[in-house]
Amino acid sequence: MADTARTPHPDADWWRQAVVYQIYPRSFADSDGDGIGNIAGITAKVDYLKALGADAVWLSPFYPSALADGGYDVDDYRDVDPKLGSLADFDELSTRLHAAGIRLIVDIVPNHSSNRHVWFQEALAAEPGSPARDRYIFRDGLGPDGDQPPSDWVSHFGGSAWTRVPDGQWYLHLFAPEQPDFDWSNQEVREDFRKTLRFWSDRGVDGFRVDVAHGLAKDLSEPLRSLPLIPEMELEQDGSNPLFDRDDVHTIFSEWRAVFNEYDPPRSAVAEAWVPTARRALYARPTELGQAFNFDLLREDWDAEGFRKSISENLAESAATGASSTWVLSNHDVVRHRTRYGLPQGIGTEGLDSWLLSDGQDPLPDDATGLHRATASTLLLLALPGSMYLYQGEELGLREVPDIPRDQLADPIWLRTGHKLKGRDGCRVPIPWNIDRSADGGSSFGFGSGGAHLPQPDWFGGLSVEAEEADPDSVLHLYRKALALRRELQGAETLEWVSEGATAQPGILHFRRPGGWEVATNFGTTPVPLPEGEVVVSSRPLEGDTLPGETTVWLRK
Ligand code: GLC
Repeated sequence: MADTARTPHPDADWWRQAVVYQIYPRSFADSDGDGIGNIAGITAKVDYLKALGADAVWLSPFYPSALADGGYDVDDYRDVDPKLGSLADFDELSTRLHAAGIRLIVDIVPNHSSNRHVWFQEALAAEPGSPARDRYIFRDGLGPDGDQPPSDWVSHFGGSAWTRVPDGQWYLHLFAPEQPDFDWSNQEVREDFRKTLRFWSDRGVDGFRVDVAHGLAKDLSEPLRSLPLIPEMELEQDGSNPLFDRDDVHTIFSEWRAVFNEYDPPRSAVAEAWVPTARRALYARPTELGQAFNFDLLREDWDAEGFRKSISENLAESAATGASSTWVLSNHDVVRHRTRYGLPQGIGTEGLDSWLLSDGQDPLPDDATGLHRATASTLLLLALPGSMYLYQGEELGLREVPDIPRDQLADPIWLRTGHKLKGRDGCRVPIPWNIDRSADGGSSFGFGSGGAHLPQPDWFGGLSVEAEEADPDSVLHLYRKALALRRELQGAETLEWVSEGATAQPGILHFRRPGGWEVATNFGTTPVPLPEGEVVVSSRPLEGDTLPGETTVWLRK
């Protein structure tokens, strides 16, 4: 039947305003005591996810991997890492989640495989110029002996983006050497990924998170263009950068959309694309992925006008294309937002890097400020049209672990930068379930009986699920309450700024949503008059009829 004649599935738009909970599987829950979280561990926590109120779970990679980059180095796209379980375990998780009304999104890593992938092994064994090498990006080196890399391109994790193989050729890896980049002009590569999308869709997966979506199409015409180090967010905005955000990447995602639409309801997708705001919309067009992560606020200070600008721009951008907006404060790649907001304003990415190198000592975060701003910003974003992506542990108000002993750091950033950057392990520490370290006979606050693969600090127990369950004023209870109320709040995807009355002053954001909802955030530190309406939830206790500083409130009229 032609697409136009098809009646849309009643659930076709489930993703547009979903709360998606990101699970980093190795650090969520470990059911077999090997120190590494696994699929069965997640299955055992489905009731927790249901009680939280998540609409969907996004699983970071769980595929077979040597963990050169936390699983984003995939050996086999259509299997489960034996350390994490089996396909049968995956099916069980999917069944249990769906029975609980929770959808399942998996992470697809199309820019690169691991160096252990069968295709890369074939490429290494094959001749230069062979079809096996053409699936990746092999080139001869420069200089009389070819011992100089083919271009000056730099890996994200530090060092050259080229590595030489024994027969003298070089291959491209925009990330670690264990992550060779595919050549997406190769039809076999394209076909194989469509096969992978169908493999998981056939197993009942509802959607896909697309890793490094802006990197797949590359300009590899000779001579390779010299590229000074450009932070990704400041790319040329015209699609002419040879490595990122090229216009021809969009034909790939149109092909993927055709695959997603083979299913009923169509599978959803969200792009990880570190591109300027205006170009993000292209990935999120309904003819492509539907959504793209909006990372603007990860770089934004606690500042009313910065939030207002980001919110307005993103909503306008989505409305123009028919996409839906996304909101993110934490994920597995950034310093947890409770900690970020406790650090001085304007610290920026480089400041965060050196803060991590100081083991979190310099400057010392102000934890009360961090907590107030974190919960206020979460409650603000939860009230917006679009999807909210939460990262495991943020519902506990978990802080970054900045002082992991250096000999236990696992992030390739630490190794590849010659120990100049500490990397992302501090937000990937296994989460605490119990107050006591040894509650389950292990030493990992209930993560698993065999300890945790990254060391957990003593203060984790106080932020454990057990501790917060027992405390009605905990961050966990706030998240549960807000997620439940949000189901009532999310109607039409519209928002109206309130620019009159007592809240019309600098440092306050106040908007209306359909159905009589009013939401206000006080970014300052001085209380302001509360807007009219019945208070339904606030990020911290209100003081009489005022909205305290660094607080968000939802009201209903
Ligand atoms: C994405 C992932 C990150 C990973 C990188 C390479 O940015 O979020 O964790 O290191 O891609 O796959």
